[in-house]
Amino acid sequence: MLFKLSNEQLMIQSMVREFARREVAATAAERDRTREFPAENLKKMGELGFLGMMAPAQYDGEGADTISYVLALSEIAYACASTAVVMSVHNSIVCESINRYGTEDQKQKYLGALARGEYIGAFALTEPHAGSDPVMQNTTATRDGDVYVLNGTKRFITSGRNSGLVIVTAKTAPEKRHKGISAFLVEKSFPGIIVGREEDKMGLRASDTTDLIFDNCQVPVENILGKEGEGFKIAMTALDGGRIGIAAQSLGVAQAAFDAAVKYAKSRNQFGRKVSKFQGLRWIIADMATQIEAARQLTLSAAALKARHENFTVQASMAKLFASEMVNRVTAKALQIHGGYGYTKEYPVERYYRDARVFTIYEGTSEIQRVVISNHILKDKRKQH
Ligand code: CAA
Repeated sequence: MLFKLSNEQLMIQSMVREFARREVAATAAERDRTREFPAENLKKMGELGFLGMMAPAQYDGEGADTISYVLALSEIAYACASTAVVMSVHNSIVCESINRYGTEDQKQKYLGALARGEYIGAFALTEPHAGSDPVMQNTTATRDGDVYVLNGTKRFITSGRNSGLVIVTAKTAPEKRHKGISAFLVEKSFPGIIVGREEDKMGLRASDTTDLIFDNCQVPVENILGKEGEGFKIAMTALDGGRIGIAAQSLGVAQAAFDAAVKYAKSRNQFGRKVSKFQGLRWIIADMATQIEAARQLTLSAAALKARHENFTVQASMAKLFASEMVNRVTAKALQIHGGYGYTKEYPVERYYRDARVFTIYEGTSEIQRVVISNHILKDKRKQH
């Protein structure tokens, strides 16, 4: 392995692994069926420090580095991808943005409560007609004395129903395109925020994905995150970190599918021997392992750059692109190795396969990652979209 993990990183990995496989995995299949939000898991994760992993200790965070966080998130995803996406948006996007752009008062008020798991964080950028192109968002924020008044609809918001605090982007100066977008810390208890329809999704079924409707929602002026007009930059910076999180989730689900496939192949007899003895299947397993390892190295490399406070935008997009495509290939192969049983709910691989499907879509599609990577390489005056 290229990365020599420190004793502290190994300790965090083994602590989270033990917790995830004992507590989180136990109810993952049931919650996939019932769509019940993993509130109990998250409460315990808050007590164990998994909800403020990279937040500084002075705000009750763990002050862990990004590599430790990637290891922890992968372990949670190994057990339950629905729990992992909530953890990822909460840590990578919400806590990180407040820690980076928040005022001391905002950190005192929100970061500690998030890190302790008193409430869950959500991120509202996407709108019905503005997904890959968030500059086209229509939500507005108009200053009226001591408040900004928000109006508009956000879509596909992870933890839209179950969050307590949402980072919302809105236009404060629509004529200025991306420079007219600002970010706000919006408590769910503020008047005028309505949880809209909840999506009935193919995977990640225990994580709620909803519309959030802002109907003259009043947000105190002190709840602007960063300065007016900095919202797009804040969102893009947050997504850089978020994309490492999706790569980490991809690794966890891929490893779970791989381990299940190896176990099955070593136990299933056909034509008088274990199916793991057939070369056709052994080569598939070798390819799966190689792809997982390649994604792991890319993800740890992006995390290491972030931990060293170097620019990691391209590496985060590469890790997200490669790992999310990889987990779709690996879960499909894992299901194939299980044969007919893989297509049933008797085995967990069909859930891994469904959960993985969105990883190439959310927090920037594979196509958007290619735009980010190629624009950085080619540095054209006229960018490609
Ligand atoms: N970090 C900091 N600033 C950045 C940046 C980054 N990574 N990327 C761009 N910017 C800045 C640029 O420097 C520029 O600022 P200046 O004009 O001051 O220099 C500004 O942002 C505009 O940049 P671009 O002209 O490159 O922006 P664009 O409109 O062409 O779009 C894009 C670029 C990469 C396509 C971007 O729109 C993008 O990432 N789209 C995908 C959005 C996305 O990932 N959505 C997912 C939402 S979250 C989610 O999935 C739900 C969930 O909860 C899980």
